Order: sequence, then structure tokens, then C-alpha cells
Amino acid sequence: MDLGLADKVAIVTGASRGIGHAIALRLAQEGMHVALVARSREPLEALRREIDALGREAVALPVDLRDPAAPAHVVATTAGALGRLDLLVNNAGATKRGDFLALTDDDWADGYALKLFGAVRMTRAAWPLLQATGGSVISIAGNGGRTGDREFTIGGSVNAALGLLTKALADRGIAEGVRVNAINPGIVETDRFRTRLQRLVAETGVSEAAAYDTMRAAHRVARFGRPEEVADLVAVMASGRIAYLQGAVVDLDGGETRTL
Ligand SMILES: NC(=O)c1ccc[n+]([C@@H]2O[C@H](COP(=O)([O-])OP(=O)(O)OC[C@H]3O[C@@H](n4cnc5c(N)ncnc54)[C@H](OP(=O)(O)O)[C@@H]3O)[C@@H](O)[C@H]2O)c1
Repeated sequence: MDLGLADKVAIVTGASRGIGHAIALRLAQEGMHVALVARSREPLEALRREIDALGREAVALPVDLRDPAAPAHVVATTAGALGRLDLLVNNAGATKRGDFLALTDDDWADGYALKLFGAVRMTRAAWPLLQATGGSVISIAGNGGRTGDREFTIGGSVNAALGLLTKALADRGIAEGVRVNAINPGIVETDRFRTRLQRLVAETGVSEAAAYDTMRAAHRVARFGRPEEVADLVAVMASGRIAYLQGAVVDLDGGETRTL
């Protein structure tokens, strides 16, 4: 199926590894040119070379998105280098887990500075360019924003806020020709997941397979997700073939979320 994304331009935040890396590569495979955003220059440059080899253009933009000035810089540099903007993927995020009574103001401020305010500022800066192309915003939130977990107060509340922001900006986008949608992944097998798995192995002394099965059973799913599955969904959601999709917050979590 031709998704009609060829020669369009995307910005992907958090593109240096994990889900964002898979999204950027997938969009390039669909023919998009991509601006790659994260703090670490080297993995962004490596991905830029990989996208180059596909015959697509990419720019590596190493910035810290907690810096309030970074999003406007990213959008302006992308427009200068790639000439237009059709898709913004707000993916960068890192929030501390743990006991609510032990999490500090700084932990909360840090989680919000990147995942919520980073997305707010990226979207605000990108909006006029997206209006010009009839483009779209897709935010990678997380199913922890729909179901409370005592160990995930910062990430869960950030993800809930991103979900509401998606609905509110989709309302604006109806009038202004910008589509705004979000994905709520469940657990996806990235480096972060593997670190959690290794911790469980170290704590319990069981095999990696047994630790995986314990985690899987606790989440009541058949398996966890792969970054490429999130990337495939982003590509489809970005496609004009389903331009009726507006304000959707799509669960991609193996059925873990059982509420409507
Ligand atoms: N993996 C999961 O199970 C899962 C589940 C639900 C939702 N999600 C959400 O999906 C998104 C991606 O998750 P992931 O597991 O792929 O994360 P990850 O492997 O930890 O990657 C996070 C990405 O964000 C970048 N980043 C971190 N801090 C940044 C900053 N201050 N400024 C700019 N970029 C920054 C990282 O690159 P640098 O370190 O180089 O900056 C990296 O590219 C996150 O928003 C996460 O909350 C993940």
C-alpha cells in the first residue's frame, strides 16, 4: 500500500535510539526526509548516514529539548535544510519511576520539561509550517496515561496530559488543517526495557526468559511490543489515506488496557 509519504518532511524527536530511531528509519523507508533530534550527536549521525544511503535526506540536530529555546531552533533549522514540514513526531521522553514519596520536585520538573513542555514547544513552533502543508502531529505518549500505577506517577500523568493536549489541538486542527493524533504504547522492547529485565534477573536470580515471562504475566499480555510496530503505526497514521483520523489516542499495547 502506498502511504503517499514520499518526498515529505518529518521531524522525529528522541531519534537516537529505541522507538524514535525505528520511527525515523521507517519514515525514510517510506520516502520521507527526516530531521533527527536527541542530545547525542553520534547515534544521530549514524542514523543520518543510514537514511542517506536510502537516498533520502536527513539532518542530525543534537539538542536538549528541555531547553526552552531548542524547539524553535529545531523547527527553523529543519525548514531551512529540508524546505517544508509535513509531520512532527513528539517521541522524546524520559520520566523517573519509583515511590511517589521519594520522587523530588526536580524529578517531576525534569520529566515534564522534556516530555510535556518539549512536545508543547515543538508543536507550537511547528504549527504554522504544518498548517502550510496540511500536515500532522503524532505524539508517542504511553498506556500508563490511561491506567494508574503507583510506581509511575510522573510518566503516567505526563502521558495523560499529552493525551488531552492531543484532543485539544485536534479540535484546533480541524479548523486549521492540521491533524493531531497520539499513540499509547504498552511496554516496548527497547534498551530501557532490557535494563528493567536485567534488574529483575539480578534481583531474583532467574533466567532472562523466566524474568520476561514474569513481567509478561504481570501485565497480562501475550508478549511485549517492538519499536518497529510503533514505527509502522506512525507511518500509517501519518498517511493521507486515513486523513479522517483526527484526535485519536490509539492503544498499541497487546491488549493490556482493558477499559474503554
Ligand atoms: N519503551 C517503552 O516501553 C515505552 C512505553 C510507552 C511509552 N514510551 C514512550 O515512548 C518514547 C520513546 O521511548 P523509548 O523507550 O524509545 O526511550 P529511550 O530508548 O529511552 O529513548 C529516548 C529518546 O529520547 C532522547 N532524549 C532523552 N532526553 C532528551 C532530551 N533532554 N532532549 C532531547 N532528546 C532526549 C534520547 O536520546 P539522548 O539520550 O541522546 O538525548 C532517545 O533518543 C518515550 O516518550 C516513552 O515515554 C515508551
